[in-house]
Amino acid sequence: MIKISERANSLGTENAFVVLAEVEKLRASGRNIVSFCIGQPDFPTPEYICNAATQAMADGHTGYTPSAGIAPLRKAVVDYVSRTRQIEISEDAVVCGCGAKPFIAYSIQAVTDRDLGHEVIYPSPGFAIYESQVRAQGAVPVPLGLRESNNFHFDLQELADSLNDRTRLVILNSPHNPTGVVYEKAYLQEIADILSEWENIWVFSDEPYHAFVYDCEFASIASIDKMLDRTILVDSVSKTWSMTGWRVGFAINQTLASVFSRMITNTDSCAPHPNQYAAAAALSGSNQSVLTMRDEFQKRRDHIVADLNTLKGVECPLPGGAFYAWAEVSELCELAGVSDSGELAEQLLHKAGVAVLADAHFGTPLANAGQHLRFSYACPIEQIDSGLSRIREYIQQLS
Ligand SMILES: Cc1ncc(COP(=O)(O)O)c(C=O)c1O
Repeated sequence: MIKISERANSLGTENAFVVLAEVEKLRASGRNIVSFCIGQPDFPTPEYICNAATQAMADGHTGYTPSAGIAPLRKAVVDYVSRTRQIEISEDAVVCGCGAKPFIAYSIQAVTDRDLGHEVIYPSPGFAIYESQVRAQGAVPVPLGLRESNNFHFDLQELADSLNDRTRLVILNSPHNPTGVVYEKAYLQEIADILSEWENIWVFSDEPYHAFVYDCEFASIASIDKMLDRTILVDSVSKTWSMTGWRVGFAINQTLASVFSRMITNTDSCAPHPNQYAAAAALSGSNQSVLTMRDEFQKRRDHIVADLNTLKGVECPLPGGAFYAWAEVSELCELAGVSDSGELAEQLLHKAGVAVLADAHFGTPLANAGQHLRFSYACPIEQIDSGLSRIREYIQQLS
């Protein structure tokens, strides 16, 4: 049989999309499913942003752009990160692409070589694309556990012990998907202190949820002394302005910007032209829609976490950011007679009509890390109530 490559075979996936397909199939067959799977705000993109795209099309901005993005967008990024991260950068350090996601692959490709044992450290649980891309690019995955006993932070001694001459990249993600943990500046300073002993290690700071922080100030490791040059700061308009399908994001790094541009020239050519104008409008417009969304998420967070903690066998810490609740369900797994959270999620989908994600959706689960389900609260309170009452009934039937 004609063969496909090992590289293609080694590429993982974001299983959230697999679950979403299953949910759609069940709905098409007439089942009523409450879904907590979706990783995108349930708000419309603000009108002034849509208008900017329409205007751009009317003005004929529909052709290719420079691979790094149009000048007004790169300028808007410079001003935006100066406001939100207190860092001063030049426009040629900015590259705009089709969301934040492609920069995960681009960064791993840019700083590791295939099959030379170059190691990439990333959070576990974490966004599944980290592990998938590390493997696919022929680097060595080094997952570092985020345990509840350590408030979902890296154990700093474990981080220090994991670094060696082969380490090329450390991936940070705050606010974090799926735990919702937020790293405060003092903690990022400690990471920076550890990294200061290793001049060849890059940092990928994945910050698409930076606008959704509820109990403290957002901080980026790029704003810490001596970290800007070695940090690849990545953000996008996807979550902040509810623009996941517009596909515009950006990466900031003076040294790697020209490499990223070349990668985009080799793949997408550029982010969609009218959408770049929309993104520029978003970044430079009023912050009001973002604050409204943030306040609403905070209300929903308080609501869902309080309710989850009334369920038998479920314990959920209060997440500081993003729009995810990461509930500990080891006891519920025992009650339900299932071996792990993946099986529990299957049962909830088929028996209770509730879709959630489990540990296995966030990279290979580490041993003894407990069993968890992720609830996205990017959905109305009524939906939260209906989904959780279904789970409550399911649990009652178990006992
Ligand atoms: C941690 C993390 N990084 C990156 C992304 C990708 O976002 P974008 O839509 O900007 O590509 C996501 C999306 O869910 C995410 O959760």
